[in-house]
Amino acid sequence: MVSQQQLKILISRDEIAKAVSRLAREIERDYRDKQPLLIGVLKGSFMFMADLIRELDLPLDLDFIRLSSYDTARESSGEVEVIHETKTPVKDRDVLVVEDIVDTGITISFLLDYLESKQPASLKVCTLTDKPSRRRVPVPIDYRGFTLPNKFIVGYGLDCGQRFRNLPDIYTLED
Ligand code: IMP
Ligand code: MG
Repeated sequence: MVSQQQLKILISRDEIAKAVSRLAREIERDYRDKQPLLIGVLKGSFMFMADLIRELDLPLDLDFIRLSSYDTARESSGEVEVIHETKTPVKDRDVLVVEDIVDTGITISFLLDYLESKQPASLKVCTLTDKPSRRRVPVPIDYRGFTLPNKFIVGYGLDCGQRFRNLPDIYTLED
């Protein structure tokens, strides 16, 4: 059982809120006169998505996709599958993928190939956090909230073995 002592605050809810509104301004500027389809990657992105769309002064559509990556362990298996499809057609839409974290890049790289095959008008990535030192596959990131050191983080939607998603701030989980 992981105890609370191992959690150290890394990004406060205020810092998150500031980053979310900065990202929203960047997205509004780029999607003016468009109606993007935001696709959140479950489960980690749900809280970020909820805050981001409330900051966005744009007409938009929303959907979620669920991929198998590492739900219980900390390491990516390298194999990704779609577990729960998006129902909104992607063809000819301006698609913006909303992620909680880009780590090795394996998940988002798979997702971008998958969505690209459905012929969107455009395809971009918005991630709240990025751990570039862990990258194994190069991925284009269009909107980035925070660049992080190589530490495992939880809170604000992010979990460790399904725990800690409900925390309103982001913490490092120390072993
Ligand atoms: P990637 O395929 O290695 O880029 O991993 C992406 C997924 O792994 C994310 O969407 C998260 O669900 C999970 N993940 C990676 N790093 C962390 C972390 O530090 N905390 C919690 N989940 C993580
Ligand atoms: Mg995720």
